[in-house]
Amino acid sequence: MKVTVLGAAGGIGQALALLLKTQLPAGSELALYDVAPVTPGVAVDLSHIPTQVKVQGFSGTDAKPALKDADIVLMSAGVARKPGMDRSDLFNINAGIVRSLIEQVAEVCPKACIGVISNPVNTTVAIAAEVLKNAGVYDKKKLFGVTTLDVIRSNTFVAELKGKNPANMSISVVGGHSGVTILPLLSQVEGITFSEDEITSLTTRIQNAGTEVVEAKAGAGSATLSMAQAATKFGLSLVRALQGEENIIECSYVEGDGKYARFFAQPVLLGKNGVEKLLPIGELSQFEQNALNNMLDILCKDIELGENYINK
Ligand code: 2OP
Repeated sequence: MKVTVLGAAGGIGQALALLLKTQLPAGSELALYDVAPVTPGVAVDLSHIPTQVKVQGFSGTDAKPALKDADIVLMSAGVARKPGMDRSDLFNINAGIVRSLIEQVAEVCPKACIGVISNPVNTTVAIAAEVLKNAGVYDKKKLFGVTTLDVIRSNTFVAELKGKNPANMSISVVGGHSGVTILPLLSQVEGITFSEDEITSLTTRIQNAGTEVVEAKAGAGSATLSMAQAATKFGLSLVRALQGEENIIECSYVEGDGKYARFFAQPVLLGKNGVEKLLPIGELSQFEQNALNNMLDILCKDIELGENYINK
């Protein structure tokens, strides 16, 4: 397996590269790309860690050498939020970065599975899809918005509140990856009951968890380490599924049946070709159903913004 990280010199990218260097299966290759000139140095640094994962680094404006023969591309390139900013405020800068990188993916490794981390994910995934479609290489089974951070935050916050081990939790989070479009399905958590107040406050905390980090870092960025951990979890699941392991399920923001929106985060069974099967989101509580109904306008507008950016 060859995994390429785009944006590898950034806060998410470096942590992600470290986790992949130490956790990818023996024999894997890891390629790091970033415009920042330090990137080959980051690769040299990582190369001293004793694992059987070969790491190479590339910088400059051309990402293609890093993308050659990639099976999986994880894209964290772009700018991060500062206090007071919403993920959508990043659109103007990150849209162009995502477009240019995906154009290169389309040319060099059109069959790779792509995990988009660059924000605003609700929109950047739509941009990626349209770029791939216009290049004639779009396969909706292979394009993913990485929403795993919402899942691990849900697991952590619920476990903390209820005195459980977060490692044993796997909460479904559906919708998108921004504000009210993030919907943790707390009613489906087995063996735990919540009061109405707990549901409201946990849901709000999970939806605003990114902002919690942005504010705590006070201008120096957004979540990087927890996002890298989340993207590693997702990336390793993808590696295992591509290698033929069965029953690998992750929540991810993918193009599905369009029942709620063209792109929608939901549990997905991963397989040798990416999405093997979209899994149902299951029964919702009234609270969750209302939250779902209320998010769809916003989510659809976020998606349309990305589509129009490429096609108009
Ligand atoms: C977050 O949720 C950075 O979008 C990322 O914190």
